[in-house]
Amino acid sequence: MTAVLQQTNTGLDVDRIRRDFPILTQPVRGGRPLVYLDNAATTQKPRQVIDRIVRYYTEENANVHRGVHYLSETATDSYEKSRTTVKRFINARDEKEIVFTRGTTEGINLVAQTWGRRNVGAGDEIVITAIEHHSNIVPWQMLCEEKGSRLLIAPVNDSGEVILDEFEKLLSPRTKIVSFGHASNALGTINPIGKMIGLAHAAGAITLIDGAQGVPHLHVDVRDLDCDFYTFSAHKVYGPTGTGVLYGKESILDAMPPWQGGGDMILSVSFEKTTYNALPYKFEAGTPNIEGVIGLAAALDYVSAIGIDTIAAHEQDLLHYATKRLLEIDGLRIIGTAAEKASVISFVLEGVHPHDIGTILDEQGIAVRTGHHCAQPLMLRFNVPATGRASFAMYNTRDEADELVAGLHKVIEVFR
Ligand code: ALA
Repeated sequence: MTAVLQQTNTGLDVDRIRRDFPILTQPVRGGRPLVYLDNAATTQKPRQVIDRIVRYYTEENANVHRGVHYLSETATDSYEKSRTTVKRFINARDEKEIVFTRGTTEGINLVAQTWGRRNVGAGDEIVITAIEHHSNIVPWQMLCEEKGSRLLIAPVNDSGEVILDEFEKLLSPRTKIVSFGHASNALGTINPIGKMIGLAHAAGAITLIDGAQGVPHLHVDVRDLDCDFYTFSAHKVYGPTGTGVLYGKESILDAMPPWQGGGDMILSVSFEKTTYNALPYKFEAGTPNIEGVIGLAAALDYVSAIGIDTIAAHEQDLLHYATKRLLEIDGLRIIGTAAEKASVISFVLEGVHPHDIGTILDEQGIAVRTGHHCAQPLMLRFNVPATGRASFAMYNTRDEADELVAGLHKVIEVFR
């Protein structure tokens, strides 16, 4: 990409941001500049996160909560300070409400297998929506299979928006938990989660928000939302892989049985009786991903310094610009046209399989995801086997959207 980066009027100095992400200057595929548009799969990491992880291993590495020696105290301090950073970022009441996990998937499984096993029985119902990621479908199917309960699916309209009337009709005294995404990874739809949480509560159910695609793009205030659980992954918000967060209201977490057994989640163990640790450690068996948690805090600090609203405004500018440019392409159809969208554009191109789109774009240095995006029922709903998906982050530019459009014209030249 030779053009000077176009500045948008959204208050974000994208040139400066890009300098923080070393990988973005790395040429790919025989010297082509990288155009990274696969941010919904994982974001790139700024130097501030990479350096923090290096500093942890260079100066602080030890196991946490286990030693009285200097390094163990230092590592524990950094780990627990990271919990405070997360607490503040999502405005939780207390550090006890922040459980570190391997990611969003583990957060949902934890709730299904602890709260779910304890509270969901035969004949009870769980409500999700038709645009969920597999991670917010399969854990509930497993629970339903075990308990004889039912999974109900709230439908979406042709734009990919949950039909709120239909959603409400599914809620009843049988509903135990309602679980839905903040934003769809495959379509970008931002759900009206405040309204949906209110409706679920009115029916007497509790709520879980899959925030994997929410936290990177949207201001999240769990107290304001009044959700019971909110879970997200570090790697989708500029942090490391293998780390995530499960927020839960203290009273609910407290009443839940532990999940995995092992070190750190106990107060005392004897062969006769084991006493479990207090929150949040009750849910953190084994040596945690210390480096990941510390890296996540560095990522959240990075995002906070820029401001999530500034990031969101830039991403919305890219979403609208790229949508307009893509729709100029003959035979291109966007799947997911909700009024409220995160910076995700799924599309199909007449006469070309999405996999071929991905391959030919890749030859030009453009990274998009192609496939079913871990949302096979959603593909079925829109009657497509797969889509191409471009997903934008704070470091992307309008020039890169133009590169994508030019790349798709080359795809068309090959296939038509
Ligand atoms: N959930 C990730 C995605 O949407 C992997 O690509």
